[in-house]
Amino acid sequence: MKTSFPKDQIEIVLLEGTHQDGTEQLRGEGFNVRTHGGALQGDELIGFIGRAHIVGVRSKTHLTDELIKNCPRLLAVGCFCAGTNQVELGSASMRGIPVFNSPFSNTRSVAELTIAEIIALHRKLTHRSHALHLGTWDKSAAGSHEVRGKVLGIVGYGHIGSQLSVLAESLGMRVMFFDTASKLPLGNAMVAGSLEELLGSCDVLSIHVPDNESTRNMIGKKQISQMRKGVCVINNARGTVVDLVALRDAIDSGHLSGAAIDVFPDEPSRAGESFTSVMQGAENVILTPHVGGSTIEAQQSISLDIASKLARFINAGTTTGAVNVPEVDLPEQGTVEGANRPHRVLNFHRNVPGVLGKIHEAAADLGVNITGEYLRTRDQLGYLVLDADPSSTEILRDRINEIDESIRTRLLW
Ligand code: NAI
Repeated sequence: MKTSFPKDQIEIVLLEGTHQDGTEQLRGEGFNVRTHGGALQGDELIGFIGRAHIVGVRSKTHLTDELIKNCPRLLAVGCFCAGTNQVELGSASMRGIPVFNSPFSNTRSVAELTIAEIIALHRKLTHRSHALHLGTWDKSAAGSHEVRGKVLGIVGYGHIGSQLSVLAESLGMRVMFFDTASKLPLGNAMVAGSLEELLGSCDVLSIHVPDNESTRNMIGKKQISQMRKGVCVINNARGTVVDLVALRDAIDSGHLSGAAIDVFPDEPSRAGESFTSVMQGAENVILTPHVGGSTIEAQQSISLDIASKLARFINAGTTTGAVNVPEVDLPEQGTVEGANRPHRVLNFHRNVPGVLGKIHEAAADLGVNITGEYLRTRDQLGYLVLDADPSSTEILRDRINEIDESIRTRLLW
């Protein structure tokens, strides 16, 4: 779909060294893309993004209400990561600015790290490596096990949990999972009727749930006591899910044989900052600095995912994958090309009764024939994508913009 102005006039700025494949994809679309390797602050940041139509950031650039206000041409934001905490979402949505993220592009990376940790914990790999680095030849089979035939207990059978399930079975592990939602077990995986049943059945427990009220401290002293002696615990999900003091006690007492922890209740905000945890110095415990999803492949996949979401929004108004505005994807109607091709109007408005009626009234007054439309609302925001025969649509856009509840209206043709 063509846009209302030449594509090379769409200015896209990408900060923080997003992967080049996404940049190339957006350039391939014909957009004007500028990049900056690091994060910018203050005047430098506003100087770089102030006239952009699209801003792409990773986790270090904070797009505050003040900044968003100072980007009058901003159409959309791409977060080239899983989270969107760095963007003031309410400010963006009330200006009709969708914010896109890529929550599942690093699923495989987390699942692979977990597999590595399952084997490493069963062989006390980091403990033995550390001893050898210090000059001790600790050759022994004591406490070392194959993972084949062992029971992997997965809490949370979502994107990562189910991917892990498939990989673990390929190693000959038996998989059992517990999820509060009903999930189709993949391969030979078995469903546990309760968390307690899972805890009492597994040789290694791996947690893959989100941070919410039901998961905070879901693995504490009581749950650990329900596990068999010698079990390993892996948390690559969120730092709030496991009570680390209870975990440390259980490892020191020998009830648990090891743990791998990638996420912590308090994490430093920047690389290089110092870090302390009750888990430091514990035997057969692998600590990693929240790198479960941090691979080049994940970065590449994130950049391509966000680039295509942004391109679909610029070209067709599609908001699928946006976290803060209604998701709308209206397919192009028919195959009419050239001068008779329908025009598309995109309108964000306040979600109050009567707006659609006013828009239809404006179209009827102008004799504009609507050929397709899709309206969705979310909280205080409505988003309408409307296709119309190509006469008077510029006037229609202006009339829609004049409606009190309108936030922003864009015309594509
Ligand atoms: P997902 O949303 O696909 O799956 C989560 C699953 O947990 C869902 O099936 C849900 O029904 C289930 N669940 C929710 N509450 C539960 C409860 N109380 N008990 C049992 N199951 C429950 O999420 P995804 O993508 O698999 O991510 C899982 C976790 O991994 C999230 O916390 C995410 O933030 C984290 N993560 C960590 C990364 C890292 O770098 N270490 C990278 C990517 C994700």
